[in-house]
Amino acid sequence: MIVVFLLFVFAGVPTAGKTLDVCATCHTNARCDDKADGSGKVCNCKYGFVGNGRTYCQDKDECQIGASRICGQHTTCHNTYGSYFCKCLSGYSPSNNMDVFIPNDGTHCQDIDECGISGQCGEGGQCRNTEGSFECSCQLGYRVHNGTEPFHPDTDKASCKVVDCGQPASVEDTVLLSFTGTTYGNEATFVCDEGFIWVSGDNISVCGANGLWRGSTMVCEAKCGTVPFLANSEVVWHKRSVVIHRCVEGYHSWRGSNVSVCGVSGVWQEATLRCIEIKPPINHLNILNEKCLHWKAEKYEEDPEDYKVTYIGSRDYQSSFHDKRKRLLSSKADQLELCLNLLPVTNYSISITAVSARFTATITTNTSLPVPPAPVVYYREFETPVPTLRLRRSANTLDPISLYQVFVLPIEEIMLFDCSSPGRPDPSRKSKSSSEYITAQIRLTQVGTEMNFTVGDGLYYGGFYNAPLENGRNYYIILRAVSHWKTALKSSCVLWAKIGGTSYVLKVSSLSAAASVGLVALAILVGYSCIWFFRRT
Ligand SMILES: *[C@@H]1O[C@H](CO)[C@@H](O)[C@H](O)[C@H]1NC(C)=O
Ligand SMILES: *[C@@H]1O[C@H](CO)[C@@H](O)[C@H](O)[C@H]1NC(C)=O
Ligand SMILES: *[C@@H]1O[C@H](CO)[C@@H](O)[C@H](O)[C@H]1NC(C)=O
Ligand SMILES: *[C@@H]1O[C@H](CO)[C@@H](O)[C@H](O)[C@H]1NC(C)=O
Ligand SMILES: *[C@@H]1O[C@H](CO)[C@@H](O)[C@H](O)[C@H]1NC(C)=O
Ligand SMILES: *[C@@H]1O[C@H](CO)[C@@H](O)[C@H](O)[C@H]1NC(C)=O
Repeated sequence: MIVVFLLFVFAGVPTAGKTLDVCATCHTNARCDDKADGSGKVCNCKYGFVGNGRTYCQDKDECQIGASRICGQHTTCHNTYGSYFCKCLSGYSPSNNMDVFIPNDGTHCQDIDECGISGQCGEGGQCRNTEGSFECSCQLGYRVHNGTEPFHPDTDKASCKVVDCGQPASVEDTVLLSFTGTTYGNEATFVCDEGFIWVSGDNISVCGANGLWRGSTMVCEAKCGTVPFLANSEVVWHKRSVVIHRCVEGYHSWRGSNVSVCGVSGVWQEATLRCIEIKPPINHLNILNEKCLHWKAEKYEEDPEDYKVTYIGSRDYQSSFHDKRKRLLSSKADQLELCLNLLPVTNYSISITAVSARFTATITTNTSLPVPPAPVVYYREFETPVPTLRLRRSANTLDPISLYQVFVLPIEEIMLFDCSSPGRPDPSRKSKSSSEYITAQIRLTQVGTEMNFTVGDGLYYGGFYNAPLENGRNYYIILRAVSHWKTALKSSCVLWAKIGGTSYVLKVSSLSAAASVGLVALAILVGYSCIWFFRRT
């Protein structure tokens, strides 16, 4: 093309000769204008073209300098041959309401309020216009699904769905009468259940925006009035017209119903349980006379209880000693007695188990020291000053803590022998009050079933001197059995023999030996000791 024009120019110049027709040389896209100084004509490219006006005038790309500079904000610029036009960006509309515009007509692009068109955000959606766009959130009572708020319906999957509360929540002691629906804002109406009266509050529940039924505030009261009170009990459960009672701690009931029911007549049918203080199945356990156990049975059933009694006895002074025994007893009684054959001077630990109640009570008892039994003596009267006396020891003695003492009593006018007297060891040291002395002391552990003892043999027995008897004098020989443990000391005496021929009469009581020889006896018991009076007849 340019080549063609050049040929034309070169062809024109020689033919024009003298005056050159400038206007004829102007480019098709140029105008022929008068020069400003009036000196002739000049070719100027037309509006929308740039060039020298003669050989070329090419299209000017007005958009090159930027849409916002040439068309204004929120626009797109479109170049055309020799011109251009503007369009608004999506979300904006031109103020001239035409599709396109050129900027110098005063048109500008303004934000479109998409929210002006209803339904942009779908059902339950709330539209919010933004610069060049809009966004959606959900109205009260709706929740966003498949996305988060805010969302845009064209680009997000999200949508708003109405809140559904589901079936109306139940309200205590009421019955659901009706409901309008399960979605937001719907209402459910309740009425009191049978046996209840409406005291106060609202009888309607409303489905809230949070998806929960905003409960009816109905207060219910049973027709029967306040819950029945049972002594020493508490209410563990109360629903509708039913109350369950329970005994408070430390009390129990083994009989009766624990349920109170509000009847249709409006009267409580009260529970029948009676709460009774819990006591151990074995109580008030004690031991009487070191022999018989007594206890109170706390029983809640008519059935007999089986008791297992075990007792263990031990003795400090006899390590080999063990008295372990068991007794079984079955009884329905409330008060019980069980007598045990406990041995003397023994520490017992006694346990009683109530088998079905699975309860064990324990008691200790320490049996006391009894008066020792006197041996069986063979009473005799001797003429010799060296008589041999015989005895057969008694059973049931507390050997480790018992001994026999042989007393020699020189016979005088008025005699008094106290079985609890300490006794002098030495016959040479006479006392004013008495002339008797201990001639021998023999531990019971050293005595077999039978024993022979010779008085006055001049030997020592248990530290006592068995002094020879005076010839021609009359004596009584008394045997004393002594048991001694800790602070307790008990003794018993028996007349063993008479030595020398005299007419004195000894008065003794309750002695088989005395009875067998026909003596008149008088004895006074002071405590456990025997005081004997001897009187000449
Ligand atoms: C959420 O999306 C799933 C699958 O894309 C669709 O099945 C479901 O209906 C959508 N939920 C709602 C509430 O639109
Ligand atoms: C609910 O309560 C209103 C008064 O608050 C009362 O008028 C209406 O009867 C009640 N509805 C029923 C079903 O009890
Ligand atoms: C009530 O009585 C029943 C039957 O006697 C018993 O099973 C239940 O444990 C009792 N309930 C209470 C709370 O004591
Ligand atoms: C019984 O126990 C007491 C206290 O432990 C003790 O002093 C006493 O010697 C015991 N008695 C016997 C016979 O074991
Ligand atoms: C009985 O003996 C036991 C030891 O076996 C002792 O603990 C208890 O105190 C004694 N009881 C009496 C009343 O002495
Ligand atoms: C005691 O003496 C008698 C005879 O007087 C005799 O038969 C008996 O065996 C003696 N007993 C003892 C234990 O020595």
